[in-house]
Amino acid sequence: MALWAPAQNLSVVFSANGSEARMRGMWRRRDSVVVRTASSEVSSSGGGEMAAYEEGQLERPNWAGETPLSRLVGAIISFKPLYSVLKLGARQVLISTAEKTNIPWREMTNEILESDVYKEMESIENPSVVYPDYYSNPFHAYDEGNLSWLAAAEAEAATMSMVRRATPDASSLEEANKIVRGNWLQAIERHHLQYSGNSTVRDILDVGCSVGVSTRFLADKFPSAKVTGLDLSPYFLAVAQFKEKERASRKNLINWVHANGEDSGLPSKSFDIVSMAYVLHECPARAIVGLVREAFRLLRPGGTIALTDNSPKSKVLQELSPVLFTLMKSTEPFLDEYYLTDLEGRMREAGFVNVTTVLTDKRHRTVTGTVPL
Ligand SMILES: C[S@@+](CC[C@H](N)C(=O)[O-])C[C@H]1O[C@@H](n2cnc3c(N)ncnc32)[C@H](O)[C@@H]1O
Repeated sequence: MALWAPAQNLSVVFSANGSEARMRGMWRRRDSVVVRTASSEVSSSGGGEMAAYEEGQLERPNWAGETPLSRLVGAIISFKPLYSVLKLGARQVLISTAEKTNIPWREMTNEILESDVYKEMESIENPSVVYPDYYSNPFHAYDEGNLSWLAAAEAEAATMSMVRRATPDASSLEEANKIVRGNWLQAIERHHLQYSGNSTVRDILDVGCSVGVSTRFLADKFPSAKVTGLDLSPYFLAVAQFKEKERASRKNLINWVHANGEDSGLPSKSFDIVSMAYVLHECPARAIVGLVREAFRLLRPGGTIALTDNSPKSKVLQELSPVLFTLMKSTEPFLDEYYLTDLEGRMREAGFVNVTTVLTDKRHRTVTGTVPL
């Protein structure tokens, strides 16, 4: 799910909740995608079976792509006066729903903004980075997109909100993370164990690491690996580095790199796992292709790519109410391109094999693939 999507359970007015059904004890095959179904309902990063999440009837939500409904939403959003109202509305909804689920959004934001985070910029920023055109546009209701201190200060709370939205039944953020982040990590680990040939994980790259939340999950899951977080926003990376210094208890320190994930400048065949968590729905189709190709170059033979993001097949996403998807699309300009991209196809074109997709929570899929040995 988009980090910046408004909550699904906003209120009675916005009720769009799809009920969830579990399917157990069987394997289902759809094209070349194998979905492992569940033998137990609770899933965690500690292993065990992953719950199976219900797919909708459509290939993708009918508010996305080239449908009349999608075009209507696009026209509404492109009407500037209305867009400004929607943008503000989306922001207010996001903050208030986060705070209702005990995510202290404004407190967390102020803590960062009032800290010494600014000092990190000098050591993080790579002045030779050239920003792709899509990256400099207004985004997530921030006029400077991801290139601002406010966006960086709010990113961790937005990430927490996304995790809570994906798990409306979870009683705490911790439980929600166990499902969303735990199932994602489990999908990566399983894929790598099954296909890498030697299952070694020495080097991990987290492309689009933002303020480092996904990077820290990867580092905790694979404690003996050297983990690198890469992002195009030096503001986000400054927060990531600042927060990691505050903790300072990790044996293998995380390395932060300011670069474009499409052209990272990092050496070929230098990673065992390349992960992109919730990055691709923020990118136009051409950037998705570029990111997947660069991951292929960076991985060693037997290496695993893991792409986790909104699932076009998610029943919950297919059943979002018109108000919610219009609000969501108003702050996510590339959602249509993301939903129209045949991600598995693009991965195979780049050279990946063993391409496997699994719904890792009600809203998200994790797509994994291997660089041939
Ligand atoms: C939603 S955030 C990722 C959240 C994070 N991975 C997590 O799971 O908590 C998406 C990130 O992708 C980054 N991004 C977008 N395009 C990129 C590119 N071409 N190269 C590197 N980072 C990019 C953005 O700057 C943003 O920080």
